[in-house]
Amino acid sequence: MTLLLPFILWAVAAVAQSNDSVFDFPEFPPAGTPDPNSTLANSAAPNPYNVYEDPGLAQAAIHFDTGSYGPTLELIHAYYTYWPVGVGVASTGQVFTTFPRGNETYTLATFTSTTTEAPWPDQEWNTPPAFANASSPGYSVATDKFLLVQSVVVDGLDRVWALDTGRPEVNGSYLLAAVPGGPKLVGFYLNGTNFATYTFPADVVYADSSINDVRFDLRGEGYAYITDSSPNRPGLVVLNLATGQSWRHLDGHPSVSPDTGFVPVYDGGMLSPRRRLATRIMFSSVPFYLYPVTSPYAINNFGLYAADGIALSSDGQYLYFAPLASRQFWRIPTSYLKVEPGPDYPYAYMRAKQAVEHLGESGSNADGMETDSSGYIYAGAPEHNAVTRYNPTTGIVEPFIRDPAIQWPDTLSVATLQNGSSYVYFTCNQYVLSLAPLPALDRPAHSLETRPHLC
Ligand SMILES: *[C@@H]1O[C@H](CO)[C@@H](O)[C@H](O)[C@H]1NC(C)=O
Ligand SMILES: *[C@@H]1O[C@H](CO)[C@@H](O)[C@H](O)[C@H]1NC(C)=O
Ligand SMILES: *[C@@H]1O[C@H](CO)[C@@H](O)[C@H](O)[C@H]1NC(C)=O
Ligand SMILES: *[C@@H]1O[C@H](CO)[C@@H](O)[C@H](O)[C@H]1NC(C)=O
Ligand SMILES: *[C@@H]1O[C@H](CO)[C@@H](O)[C@H](O)[C@H]1NC(C)=O
Ligand SMILES: *[C@@H]1O[C@H](CO)[C@@H](O)[C@H](O)[C@H]1NC(C)=O
Ligand SMILES: *[C@@H]1O[C@H](CO)[C@@H](O)[C@H](O)[C@H]1NC(C)=O
Repeated sequence: MTLLLPFILWAVAAVAQSNDSVFDFPEFPPAGTPDPNSTLANSAAPNPYNVYEDPGLAQAAIHFDTGSYGPTLELIHAYYTYWPVGVGVASTGQVFTTFPRGNETYTLATFTSTTTEAPWPDQEWNTPPAFANASSPGYSVATDKFLLVQSVVVDGLDRVWALDTGRPEVNGSYLLAAVPGGPKLVGFYLNGTNFATYTFPADVVYADSSINDVRFDLRGEGYAYITDSSPNRPGLVVLNLATGQSWRHLDGHPSVSPDTGFVPVYDGGMLSPRRRLATRIMFSSVPFYLYPVTSPYAINNFGLYAADGIALSSDGQYLYFAPLASRQFWRIPTSYLKVEPGPDYPYAYMRAKQAVEHLGESGSNADGMETDSSGYIYAGAPEHNAVTRYNPTTGIVEPFIRDPAIQWPDTLSVATLQNGSSYVYFTCNQYVLSLAPLPALDRPAHSLETRPHLC
């Protein structure tokens, strides 16, 4: 009780000075800043846990964090079968989703009801001849079928793209290495007809790469930008959709690399030495810090993941990205990425690295990013159970939505449906929420109480 007093006094003083603005500078709020009441988890009212006999304290208005702000959160799907990672939404409202795969029978699926999914386009596409390479132990195989589809993206022409890492999980404990022809980008029409498959040379997507997310620019020849989130291979992969040529950029640059000192905080974490075992920390039932102490082949390598979330500005001029194990936020003009390094352009690597712009800290690590038609760049903020958005006009990362139920927002997807409504879809992976005892497993053992859902 006594410990709280200084805080309450400070809060009351802040109310008296408040100018109803989110920002305490004369030039703020800039044009386009949302109404503070719609974006701040603030209420000014008597202490909600009011226990004071003293009438002055009982009636004192204080600011308190309500835990939520922003537009209404709608629960649209609950996963009961497999643990989701990716989501993409077509203008028809059809939702596609992906599952990291070990023994799971499919890795790309579509919703068939609010609680069920079915393999997409069919089971055959989801059934490779093998996962493990019989002649090269530790490696996977080359196949046109799906091995582990990490990301699914619906492009501006309502075509469905599956990004296959080519590295299935083994026994929930490690990832097989890729062989060329395993990692691929596969395009389908909405009716399930395959129209394109791109594979990558061994020195563009390496055996120990982890291609994570993809964004498309269909202007001109058309390009796909892909993050490599492997702690061994931080970088970006660029694919020319017209020629099928692909190349890398920003290899090892700080903008795509994990921040070695990064210690993320989830649910208002409290440091507990027993919680430092990172691969067993998912499903902690208490707030925690996450320590990066995993091996490069670990499946849940959250403490070391490199470039992960990715977004293309609505005009196609900038690619935004952030390593998962970092709070730093970056962008680069796409004109530098489109240049394939080689004898004709010997300085292309260097010039791209020099063109990277550091946009500062975004307040959280980000596991999923997306753009809307007005230019905002949305980013999941798992450290805050929130989604934020970067306003390129002001340079400010603004609050967008926050809710205690947003447990590890991932893989954002903005869709404007044919009926005119626009939504930001994201999965809530619930990596950090559990009502069940901590399982002694390296991979999710989910119960009904902890099923991930799509908001
Ligand atoms: C409050 O903020 C507005 C800008 O939003 C500014 O014009 C005004 O001068 C401020 N008032 C005070 C009392 O600081
Ligand atoms: C924001 O909310 C406070 C407290 O409910 C209220 O006094 C204030 O007028 C609101 N401001 C705006 C801009 O709506
Ligand atoms: C996959 O493996 C898990 C644990 O190793 C097991 O519980 C599950 O039944 C297996 N699923 C299938 C489809 O084999
Ligand atoms: C197994 O790996 C080797 C090289 O490591 C590769 O040449 C071969 O194609 C792979 N086998 C299959 C079925 O993909
Ligand atoms: C997976 O685990 C099973 C049972 O523990 C074991 O027999 C098998 O060899 C393992 N497979 C690989 C590829 O490690
Ligand atoms: C699927 O859609 C594509 C593009 O609209 C079209 O060309 C193709 O004929 C369709 N295939 C089937 C089987 O309907
Ligand atoms: C558009 O469709 C979505 C999903 O079915 C629905 O939630 C929304 O209310 C619809 N909007 C309009 C304006 O009908």
